[in-house]
Amino acid sequence: MQEKEKFYITTPIYYPSGDWHLGHCYTTTVCDAFARFKRMNGYDVFFLTGTDEHGQKIAKKAEEAGMQPKPFIDGLVAKLKDIWSLMDITYDKFIRTTDEEHISCVQKIFEKLYEKGEIYKAEYEGWYCTPCESFWTESQLVEGKCPDCGREVSREKEESYFFRLSKYTDKILKLYEDNPEFLQPKSRVNEMVNNFLKPGLTDLCVSRTSFNWGIPVSFDKKHVVYVWIDALSNYISALGYLSEKDENFQKYWPADLHMTAKEIIRFHAIIWPAILMALDLPLPKQVYGHGWLLIGGDKMSKSKTDKIKTELVHPVALCDRYGSDAVRYFLLREIPFGSDGIYTNESLLKRINTDLANDLGNLVNRTQAMIEKYFGGTLPTERESAPVDEELIGMASGLYGKVCSAMDALNVPEALTEIFRVVQRANKYVDDTAPWALVKDESKRARLATVMYNLAETLRIVAVMLKPYLTKSPDIILGSLGVDASAVMNFDSVKTFGVLPLNVTVTKTPPLFPRIDIQKELAEVEALVLAEKKEKEKKVEIKVEEQTQKPEISIDDFAKVQLKVATVLEAEEVPKSDKLLKLRVKIGNEERQVVSGIKKAYAPEYLIGKQVVMVTNLKPVKLRGIESQGMIICAENAEGKLAFLTPEVAIEDGSEIF
Ligand code: MSP
Repeated sequence: MQEKEKFYITTPIYYPSGDWHLGHCYTTTVCDAFARFKRMNGYDVFFLTGTDEHGQKIAKKAEEAGMQPKPFIDGLVAKLKDIWSLMDITYDKFIRTTDEEHISCVQKIFEKLYEKGEIYKAEYEGWYCTPCESFWTESQLVEGKCPDCGREVSREKEESYFFRLSKYTDKILKLYEDNPEFLQPKSRVNEMVNNFLKPGLTDLCVSRTSFNWGIPVSFDKKHVVYVWIDALSNYISALGYLSEKDENFQKYWPADLHMTAKEIIRFHAIIWPAILMALDLPLPKQVYGHGWLLIGGDKMSKSKTDKIKTELVHPVALCDRYGSDAVRYFLLREIPFGSDGIYTNESLLKRINTDLANDLGNLVNRTQAMIEKYFGGTLPTERESAPVDEELIGMASGLYGKVCSAMDALNVPEALTEIFRVVQRANKYVDDTAPWALVKDESKRARLATVMYNLAETLRIVAVMLKPYLTKSPDIILGSLGVDASAVMNFDSVKTFGVLPLNVTVTKTPPLFPRIDIQKELAEVEALVLAEKKEKEKKVEIKVEEQTQKPEISIDDFAKVQLKVATVLEAEEVPKSDKLLKLRVKIGNEERQVVSGIKKAYAPEYLIGKQVVMVTNLKPVKLRGIESQGMIICAENAEGKLAFLTPEVAIEDGSEIF
């Protein structure tokens, strides 16, 4: 047997933010359509997706939730996998950057690059935001302030490892010149060339010492590998690169298609090829940077969520309400090739009503109903053709070729447009042939049967061609035509018109996409979204009210409490306690031991080096047999989230708080 050609396709790996919305489903749904399409076209497909789990942001979120990062992320990953299962995403592997194999692969990649002189140690200088513990470049600042929290930043230096990206400027330019297909759509090439390559690439900082939720550099453990080497390497670590079990790497690398969105194209089309060149590895064949789904006109990054008042955006809610086929169809059809698309409740409902209910659903319903009504469900075998049949038959038999061309050009909406052109033509064919008139004339039985057969056969081709895009209704359509849908594993049967038996029996199914009363539905959805919002706000209000009001005190009462800034030197868990941590803190010249109930919120290692606010004149107490010489001041919100207080800018420990 001839060996199948391979096709390796990847999505970016997702941050485990938990705030997933419809926009996040776009890349993965598109990849799933490609994976299904290629499988049906006879390829041996490997479809990779996963999660990008390291970095300070996620560590902070875990802390806020009172959990260690890994168990916190486990819960979110489970939710993401639930979304993928609801959307019928057929990935072959789900990689997590916290997987042992990935960690070990990244460490080896880092070592290899260091040994080859592609990575060197130097000092990173940038604008540092103390509360966010983040470095920013000049261009990232917003009006000279931290782009995340809007506070003052200061010029700081940190020891870091750098990847010699600068040396790859010409090589990447040559890559684009020699392989015009490498980066798609073409407009992205100009962006990369004008914005990054022409000005010249600068070396890339690839390690950090200011946080520790990351992959440690194996030969210099105070550094963790910083974001992009960690994240991008997933595409090869998932295949077993540099491990003993590297058959998948041998078989599937290089990737055939890295699907990404436009804001991360630079990483995939410049940094990633440079890393691969440095590792002497073959380059991916194609990188595609799609546009965004703008929710109510916004990219819907978290900071903008507030602007979105009434759009229903959660994939689970949407699939529950309209079914995953409708959601998948909207995503695949609505974002034009290479540019942005807009989501509103209304645009989704219009797509459902127009394309799915009026065009496809209607064709299915009327074909089933007419065959049932005119022939009791089973067609007779006599035939009588007419010239009007030719266009429909031609379009249906040519559909496979048209869809293949659109998919080869990575144009998924165009592939769907082609399929729906045939659906529309078939609906028009019903009007052209007027079966309701034919049925009245007994001598036209054969003609009527031919018309019905052409409709059923067109539906069969349409249903098979829809299989990569919609995952439920094509099988229902095929089932109604007496075709065993689970046996349709490829496109072989759509290359000829006339595969259904002449005496096909067609059974009726409930409407696939019932028409929605848009105005009524919009009102319901808006009410639902607003009610959810209110519910959330109410919960917070109630909790705040529950807090007890303490009696007034005088300034002299307050002055009795001595508060000072302290720096955490050491932190460890108190055995058998799920709340307590034992800390060693420095308060000016003095060192003390404190036991604090913050274990649920903080990993001990995270606290080391942090500045905290302490009550220093509190009578010592013993907690679990350990003496606590003071108390760390924390805030607890309505939901039980805990955070210690810290000075807004670094200040000498021992400083008084008043
Ligand atoms: N972790 C990085 C990718 C590292 S790849 C080595 C990341 N993660 S993400 O969770 O922010 O995004 C995951 C995918 O969702 C990206 O392709 C991103 O562009 C996509 N989308 C998120 N919001 C989107 C829209 N509103 N519209 C379309 N896709 C968008 O980036």
